[in-house]
Amino acid sequence: MIDWSQGSYESTAADLRPAARELVDAARIRPGEHVVDLGAGTGNVALLAADLGARVTAVEPAARLREVIQEVSGARDLTVVDGTAESIPLPDGSADVLLSNFAAIFAPDPKAAIDELARVTAPNGRILLTAWLPGGVDELVGIMVGAVREVTRKGSDESTEGRFDWHDPGTLAAHLGPHGFALSATPRDLTTVTASAEEYWSTRIANHPLGVATFPILEQAGRLDEVRTRVFDLIAERWTEPSGEVRLPARYLLAEATR
Ligand SMILES: C[S@@+](CC[C@H](N)C(=O)[O-])C[C@H]1O[C@@H](n2cnc3c(N)ncnc32)[C@H](O)[C@@H]1O
Repeated sequence: MIDWSQGSYESTAADLRPAARELVDAARIRPGEHVVDLGAGTGNVALLAADLGARVTAVEPAARLREVIQEVSGARDLTVVDGTAESIPLPDGSADVLLSNFAAIFAPDPKAAIDELARVTAPNGRILLTAWLPGGVDELVGIMVGAVREVTRKGSDESTEGRFDWHDPGTLAAHLGPHGFALSATPRDLTTVTASAEEYWSTRIANHPLGVATFPILEQAGRLDEVRTRVFDLIAERWTEPSGEVRLPARYLLAEATR
């Protein structure tokens, strides 16, 4: 599992803030509800939910990010705990609302994660999560992930074995349905803006926890320069304004499961 304490996640967290806002708005949180922010990162969702008067538990596996949340939480009703989507340290049925902004999607065992999300959510509770749809930022990440897979010989083919499409409402409904949830979902847009491709590369890729974890592998295999060139070419071709500014579009699914 990648350690998200590495490098700097903070600039990406700022990019994801509008999606966190949409997720929290969609959850229609009432004061006093117990809200769990799963994979809370630097606390984008947890802080917004606490400001609405919720009792919030932020679950985050990365130690450094837990410290960041703790530092910014101030006097809010916000508890920070260590945990993962597959192992949430909370009692059965204790969450009125379980939110996960681009985080449950990183669970190495997605089916165990779904079971765990359902276990922790109250009998009349709701789960809302976001997941990237193909295209845009997902295409860039695909270049990196594809190269790492080739290098580590984990297969670069399009095999779907073991794949779990968090962005597919059908997949989510098939796995949450047996736990009594009904699913609704809508696609949303999110654009990341940086002053240049170089800025995007240094602040959103090279220093991102996923970049910090994978660059040494690509470098050792002599693939890093090629990957960098492909990323820059794609950004130049598709997402660079005449001014040099980069506007990287992304689409994601906002899914809500209620029971
Ligand atoms: C893209 S970040 C999103 C963070 C935050 N939700 C936000 O809106 O900025 C992904 C987060 O998922 C966490 N994560 C990674 N693996 C996880 C797992 N198995 N279960 C729960 N969270 C996980 C990471 O530590 C990281 O904080």
